[in-house]
Amino acid sequence: MNLRPTMECPAWQRLTVHADLWREARLPALFASDPARAERFIASAPGLQLDYSRQRVGTQTLLLLAQLALERDLAGWREAMFSGKPVNSTEQRAARHTALRAGAEAPEEVRDVLSRMRGLASLLHSGELRGATARPFTRLVNLGIGGSDLGPRLAVDALRESANSRCAVNFAANVDSLELARALEGADAGTTLFAVVSKTFTTHETLANARAAKQWLVENLPAGSDVSRHFIAVTANPQAAQAFGARDVLPMWDWVGGRFSVWSAAGFSVMAAIGPDAFDEFLAGARDIDQHFAAAPLQANVPALMALVGLWNVNFLDARTHAVLAYAHALRLLPAYLQQLEMESNGKRVDRNGRALEYATAPVLWGGEGTVSQHSFHQLLHQGTQIVPVDFVVAGGNPALHANAEAQAGALAFGTADPALPPHRRHPGNRPSSLLRLERIDARNLGRLLATYEHKVFAQGVLWNVNSFDQWGVELGKSLAEEMLKRRT
Ligand code: F6P
Repeated sequence: MNLRPTMECPAWQRLTVHADLWREARLPALFASDPARAERFIASAPGLQLDYSRQRVGTQTLLLLAQLALERDLAGWREAMFSGKPVNSTEQRAARHTALRAGAEAPEEVRDVLSRMRGLASLLHSGELRGATARPFTRLVNLGIGGSDLGPRLAVDALRESANSRCAVNFAANVDSLELARALEGADAGTTLFAVVSKTFTTHETLANARAAKQWLVENLPAGSDVSRHFIAVTANPQAAQAFGARDVLPMWDWVGGRFSVWSAAGFSVMAAIGPDAFDEFLAGARDIDQHFAAAPLQANVPALMALVGLWNVNFLDARTHAVLAYAHALRLLPAYLQQLEMESNGKRVDRNGRALEYATAPVLWGGEGTVSQHSFHQLLHQGTQIVPVDFVVAGGNPALHANAEAQAGALAFGTADPALPPHRRHPGNRPSSLLRLERIDARNLGRLLATYEHKVFAQGVLWNVNSFDQWGVELGKSLAEEMLKRRT
């Protein structure tokens, strides 16, 4: 696989020259000189459309970016990832999240676990799974953090209206006991089930919450009850989960990264909330995008285009942050999910050869929920001193949300033209954004949306020549905290 340093690619040099020439390009002029721009800079994938006409790119920019993808061998890396080669080189592991949603093509072990999940989740969904006191569970509390929390939490929240489950699903991630206390507000121990989700089963926060949950059960169930009947564990470390005590241990594998794991048994709470059939749709949506990413030519490939345009903004327009604004209340947790996906994957300072990078990698991702954000931080987006590229994610048919997202994108791009306005009322414009439109929010489209960002992140990792699948940067702080805790206890 190609390990050629990105800056040594001829396309990178040409992009540098092009960026100098292009620095003065202004979006209003680009639209005026090309009436078809709004139609030309659009790409579609199943269930979604990317409008990147308000990005500060031209035809030549896209050609050079495509050339960079070619020189970095994006197609070769993509094939390596899909076919299970050890693309996570620092851990000598594959990154096979696409195998989790491959349907009939999925490995047998994946299909087996899905069918075990289906058995348990359908009983929970229909109110037939029973605890130690033989009463049916009515509340599931997901105990996990990072990838064992953010994806499931987003999916359960996004699809809540169609969930139709007998079992409510809550989450607790923080080691601050308040979160678990809130998740258990009004709960009855006899009808509460916990899913302890931890790939490693060593994560301090999750184990602390699992122990606290066990204590709560012991205190609130009749004496002598089998508390293990109130736990399901999801992990790649089954021995530790069995030692903890759980009625079922659903496996994960070391070839699934935590932040890519919502499609695995880590998504058990999603399946319990929306039901197995809708979870199948969620997987099918991701599969739609896997097929699109694998087959669509670069100029029509939505995740690849998002990656290329994102790189252009960071490395050639000097953007240091990237905002994701969800114009749908159901997607309000999308920025939090993407923060882990993008920054834990590509927040890297050395390349795959171990060399310190001389160019920026993942921007700081932040965001919020439109239109709420308009009354908070959009002032900075429009008139602040830094350029913040924005993804407006618009879903569903609410005309007010559509109008607001389009208006914000237009104001960022075109600004104000009236020279008579006092300086404080002028909008400079020329600020880049994309609109990602989903027909509606349902399980299939949510799967499509998340897989789109996953592949964007992977493609950017290839372009930057970094390993998107490890996260060594989180280890030092973790071990320091453990040492401090040991000294204090
Ligand atoms: O600390 C970072 C991290 O390792 C993430 O990558 C992961 O999603 C999270 O912790 C939780 O890990 P686990 O599922 O092993 O508890």
